[in-house]
Amino acid sequence: MKILVTRRLFPETIERLRGLAEVDYRDLDENLPAAELAQRVVGCAGLMAGLTDRIDAALLAGADGLKVVSNVAVGYNNIDVAACTAAGVMVTNTPGVLNETTADMAWTLLMASARRVVAADAWTRAGNWQGWKFQDPWMGQDVHGATLGILGMGRIGQAVARRAQGFDMRVIYHSRTRPDATSHIPGRAQWVAKERLFSEADFIVLLVPYTPQTHHAVAAPELALMKPTAHLINIARGGVVDDVALIEALRERRIAGAGMDVFEGEPALNPGFRTLDNVTLTPHIGSSTRATRLAMANCAADNLCVALTGQAPPNLINPDVILERVS
Ligand code: DGY
Repeated sequence: MKILVTRRLFPETIERLRGLAEVDYRDLDENLPAAELAQRVVGCAGLMAGLTDRIDAALLAGADGLKVVSNVAVGYNNIDVAACTAAGVMVTNTPGVLNETTADMAWTLLMASARRVVAADAWTRAGNWQGWKFQDPWMGQDVHGATLGILGMGRIGQAVARRAQGFDMRVIYHSRTRPDATSHIPGRAQWVAKERLFSEADFIVLLVPYTPQTHHAVAAPELALMKPTAHLINIARGGVVDDVALIEALRERRIAGAGMDVFEGEPALNPGFRTLDNVTLTPHIGSSTRATRLAMANCAADNLCVALTGQAPPNLINPDVILERVS
């Protein structure tokens, strides 16, 4: 039995997989070209993939014998799940283990944007500081007591909402399904319509998965609803925000700022972002602490190992695969 691991993980994770099967380990942290992925997956029963590996019907057509794709990420918009189900291939992801770390990063961007930390750092380093000023050019927005809006109240959204209690914030959120009386949403968060979220919140954190339905969920109409003092934080996926519309809104100071960890077409960066001092940019590092990346690798290995024994793995996205096998 053979497993393909498409990019560098942790040695202990690979050792574990080696105890189970022959491992084709690509000990490199660059994206695996699609043609090479198609070649190397042939004859494999398991595939440990990352969010830059595209798994679609064309790849599956040449991957006879593949039983499981274990994505080392919570998001799985790189995978055509329906095509995997049709091919009898299980798909798993790594939910849970990265909630707190990603919520921390959402707050890092929120606070950096509110207080203009990155631009102030660059300005200070460049030797511009002539002396303390009362009405200095760096006056930002208060976070405490402000209204936090969360689009998408999944596990990470809830972790973001919990943190807002420490800042005495009012928390509003919008999700596709309205909660019923039994749903427990932390931080006394209140469900509101999407338009209300965008017009009332001082800080908006995006935490929806990227799907055809959430493509450009934040575009010119949503940005037009935002207060001129509001900030937008995208820690979800590139494509959830229309980056061109956002750049325009930031350039014209129609909103105060943005914190962006993910981008349309990343790693390419729309050059418009580079010219703005009211946007904080990070390279898709929401889950990037050593402890969390290790937990993600281990979670993905757990999923893969269980799936290869023929059982349903803990984080199975397409249980229909198992149901079809049973029926
Ligand atoms: C995920 O897991 O989906 C993150 O975007 C990458 O850590």
